[in-house]
Amino acid sequence: MIFHQFFEKESSTYTYLLACEDTREAVLIDPVVSEIEHYAQLLAVKNLTLAYSLDTHVHADHVTAANQLREKFGCKTVLHRNSGVACGDIFITDKSAIRIGDILVEARYTPGHTNACTSYVVEGMVFTGDALLIDGCGRTDFQEGNAATLYDSIHQQIFSLPDETIVYPGHDYNGGLSSTVGQERLHNARLGNGRSKQEFIDIMQKLNLPYPKKIDIALPANKACGK
Ligand SMILES: [Fe+2]
Repeated sequence: MIFHQFFEKESSTYTYLLACEDTREAVLIDPVVSEIEHYAQLLAVKNLTLAYSLDTHVHADHVTAANQLREKFGCKTVLHRNSGVACGDIFITDKSAIRIGDILVEARYTPGHTNACTSYVVEGMVFTGDALLIDGCGRTDFQEGNAATLYDSIHQQIFSLPDETIVYPGHDYNGGLSSTVGQERLHNARLGNGRSKQEFIDIMQKLNLPYPKKIDIALPANKACGK
């Protein structure tokens, strides 16, 4: 498998490229509109065809590259069916799967940060978007966020994966690249070490986070696939 992790500095967003070595088909997870030239360059250098762009959820902090990638490469835009985004090509649900060559990308519905959050499981890796972050998790005070729902999603859909599964988050604000399910299950500050659902809800209620900077631009744009 070909794997690459991109980083967009302004919103500290990670974008992932996965591709099949045989068929040269590729998928991008959470592409950012300002970074398209970087994606195009890697696709060209590696001789890859972009088949899909996947968004883990409707982002509030950056604009997705979905629409521009579709126009440039003819790839399909993939989102969860609860996203409320009409311009997608494929609407997935829990346990839906996308195939690129010999790689199966399995969707796991992980709502709570938003009501359409999806994590993707691929060969010993899980791409968690903003559901589970390294030593943290996505906020639950906007976009139909719900701390109790997020707690259940993370426990049922992510912590149930083997401990050695590599966690690739949608963001990291401290330079972290990845974690593992075992590390987060044991040591995540908000969820680790067997924290109860009520403890988690209390932590999330007391975060007092500022209003998301780009939400008023990013949300309407992302509901139109980034147009
Ligand atoms: Fe988010």
